[in-house]
Amino acid sequence: MIRCATAADLTLLPAIEVAAGAPFRELGMTLVADDAPPTVAELEPALRDGRLWVATVEGAVAGYAVADVVDGTAHLEQVSVDPRWAGRRLGAELIEEVARWAAVRGDRWLTLTTYAEVPWNGPYYRRLGFEPIPDAEVGPQLRAIRAGEAARGLDAWPRLALRRPPAAVR
Ligand SMILES: CC(C)(COP(=O)(O)OP(=O)(O)OC[C@H]1O[C@@H](n2cnc3c(N)ncnc32)[C@H](O)[C@@H]1OP(=O)(O)O)[C@@H](O)C(=O)NCCC(=O)NCCS
Repeated sequence: MIRCATAADLTLLPAIEVAAGAPFRELGMTLVADDAPPTVAELEPALRDGRLWVATVEGAVAGYAVADVVDGTAHLEQVSVDPRWAGRRLGAELIEEVARWAAVRGDRWLTLTTYAEVPWNGPYYRRLGFEPIPDAEVGPQLRAIRAGEAARGLDAWPRLALRRPPAAVR
């Protein structure tokens, strides 16, 4: 089940992100696996703005997604699912929820940045309808996000910016 996060969920989310990062270690992407998760304080504005969602399994919080507005359009900042609950389409359902939020906002695109070649990143998002953003159409804020990622060393493996139109409002 996907629902809006509550204040009580916040303390659970950093550990979910750490757990979700662990598979990167198996690809030798230690830097990514060790990238610090957001703090509760960093998640609070998203909670307040209604752009933070959790996926639950029998009441337990198994994953989360956080969105933001970048260059005036919806941006998927992070989606993480605890590997114990991987492969149940929770990630896909969280992304659809973010896409619905984007649709309600009237946004043209839902954007994100990800690893091009990691199987559960670029190829996964492509299967969910995302396509590369032509370089000339990457806006200044998204460009700044990419520069920040590069500065943190995260570009040691190919990264790219993707987008898809938001879902139709249901
Ligand atoms: C990306 C993520 C949210 C997907 O969560 P999930 O609930 O398992 O997602 P789903 O069940 O919807 O789908 C998982 C997909 O990843 C693929 N996948 C997962 N692990 C994989 C692996 N080791 N090798 C190949 N494919 C893999 C599955 O085949 C599946 O794709 P498909 O169903 O389209 O064929 C989760 O893997 C995660 O938290 N990863 C770490 C954080 C991350 O990379 N976030 C996204 C970038 S910021």
